[in-house]
Amino acid sequence: MSDADVTQAAGAALERFLDDTREARLESYKALLRIPSISGIPAHAADCRAAAEFVASDMRAVGMEHVEVSETGGHPVVYADWLHAAGKPTVLVYCHYDVQPADPVELWESPPFEPVVKDGRMLARGASDCKCHVSMHLRAIEALMRTRGGLPVNLKFVIEGEEESSSVHLDAWLVANKERLAADFATISDTGFFEGNLPAITVGLRGLVYFQLDVTGSTIDLHSGGFGGAVDNPINALCAIVADLKGPDGRVRVPGFYDDVVELTPLDREALARLPFDEEKYRKSLGIPALHGEPGYTTLERLGARPTLDLCGIWGGFEGEGPKTIIPAHAHAKISCRLVANQDPEKIFGLVARYIDEVAPKSIRYSIQRLGDGRPSLTPIDGPTTQAAARALKATFGADPLFIREGGSIPVCASFESILGLSTVLLGFAPPDGQFHAPNEWMSMANYETGIRTIARYWDEVSLLAFGQQ
Ligand code: BES
Ligand code: MN
Repeated sequence: MSDADVTQAAGAALERFLDDTREARLESYKALLRIPSISGIPAHAADCRAAAEFVASDMRAVGMEHVEVSETGGHPVVYADWLHAAGKPTVLVYCHYDVQPADPVELWESPPFEPVVKDGRMLARGASDCKCHVSMHLRAIEALMRTRGGLPVNLKFVIEGEEESSSVHLDAWLVANKERLAADFATISDTGFFEGNLPAITVGLRGLVYFQLDVTGSTIDLHSGGFGGAVDNPINALCAIVADLKGPDGRVRVPGFYDDVVELTPLDREALARLPFDEEKYRKSLGIPALHGEPGYTTLERLGARPTLDLCGIWGGFEGEGPKTIIPAHAHAKISCRLVANQDPEKIFGLVARYIDEVAPKSIRYSIQRLGDGRPSLTPIDGPTTQAAARALKATFGADPLFIREGGSIPVCASFESILGLSTVLLGFAPPDGQFHAPNEWMSMANYETGIRTIARYWDEVSLLAFGQQ
C-alpha cells in the first residue's frame, strides 16, 4: 500500500469507529455536563473535584498514562500523558472542566445541569465553554488508540478546574510541575468559531483585571429625611466614581490606561476588515439599538485589539418592593478591564486604583478588592503549528479557517509562554453565538462531531512537524 492508501485506510477505520460509538460518546459528554463544577462558588468545590475525577477516569479508560488528579491548593488539575511516539513532537494540551454559575436559572429553557440535545444543539452550562473540548479531545484519543493502537504524537494533558475564576492557583502549579510539562508547544482548546459559525483559529486573546469597589458611609442605613442633605450617599458616590472612569464615548479616562497598548498596524487593520463580519446582523442578534465603543475603531478592532473598562455588577441600598426612605450604609460594584498586548494587569490595576483615589469624594470611605487578573496574548498566524491546525480544519470542515482576535481571556496562554516557554495554538470549536456564561448555553453537535475528526487529523499533521530537540 502507498502512503496515501495507508492514510485513507486509517481515516476510514477512524470514521467507522466514530460511527459505531456515537451513542456512547453522547452519553459520556452528557455525564460530564451533569456535574455542576462551578469553580467560583465555594459550595461547588466537591462538584469540581467530582468533575476532575470523572475526567481522570475517562483519561485512564482511553489509554492515557500517569493520570493524576493533582492538588493545587484550589480545585485540582487533571494531568495525563502518553509518550510513546518516539521521535515525534510532544504537545501540551489544555482545556478546563469548570464552568460559570448558571444564574439566572429561571431564564433557561431546560435545567442547566440536565443536558439535552435539541435541534442539533447540546443545551447545558459548560456545553460549549468548555466541556465540549474536554470530551472531544478524549474521544479523538480514544478513536486513535482503538483504531491504531497508539497516537501519532506525544501528548500531555492539563485539564484545569479554575479557569472561570481566574486560574488563581494554576501558575504556581505550572512552576512546580515545569519539568513534567516540557513540550514542543501547547494547544489550548477553549475558543470558538467566527460569526456565522465559520471555522476559525484564534490568534489574539485579551487579558483581564477584575476588582470589586466597596463604598461605605455611615455604619447603618440612615433616615433619608432625617439625614439627607447632611451626609453623602454611598450609592451616589459610587456612581460618581464609576462615571469618572469612562467617558460616554467609550474611552477610558484613567491616565496612562492606553500607554502600553500595541497599536494596530495598517496590515492588522486590513486583515480584520477582510473578515466576513456583518455589523448590522451582529447588532440585531444582540437585540440592541446601536453598537457602542471607542471612537476611531471598528467593532472587530474594539473587540480584539482595544482595552475596555466595564461594570459587571452594582448593588446597594434598598432593593425590595415599595418605598423605603434611607441613605444606605454601603454600595458595591464589580468592574472588569479587558486588556490587550502589552498591557500589564498589575500596572493597570495600579493606575485605576490611583485614579479612584483621586476622584473618590472625601465624604465616604472605600476599599478595592482585587478578584483576579490575566495577561493578554498574541500569536503569529504563519507559524508551522498554527498552519497544521489550519490544514486539519480545512480537511474536516471544508473551508480555510479565518484567523481571529478574541475579546475573551484565557490567562493560561500567557503563562504557558512565560513559565513553560511554550507557544500556543488556540484550536477550539464552540459556535460564536453559543451563549457562553449566559442562560441556554449550547454547543453545535455538528461542530462537536466534526471537531473530533479535526483533532485526530491535527495530531497527524503535527506528527509531520520537526522540532529542534527531537
Ligand atoms: N472560553 C472562554 C474564553 C473565550 C470566550 C474564548 C469567548 C473564546 C470566545 C473562557 O473560559 C473564559 O470565559 N474566560 C474568562 C476568563 C476570566 C474569568 C479570567 C473570561 O474571558 O471572562
Ligand atoms: Mn472557557
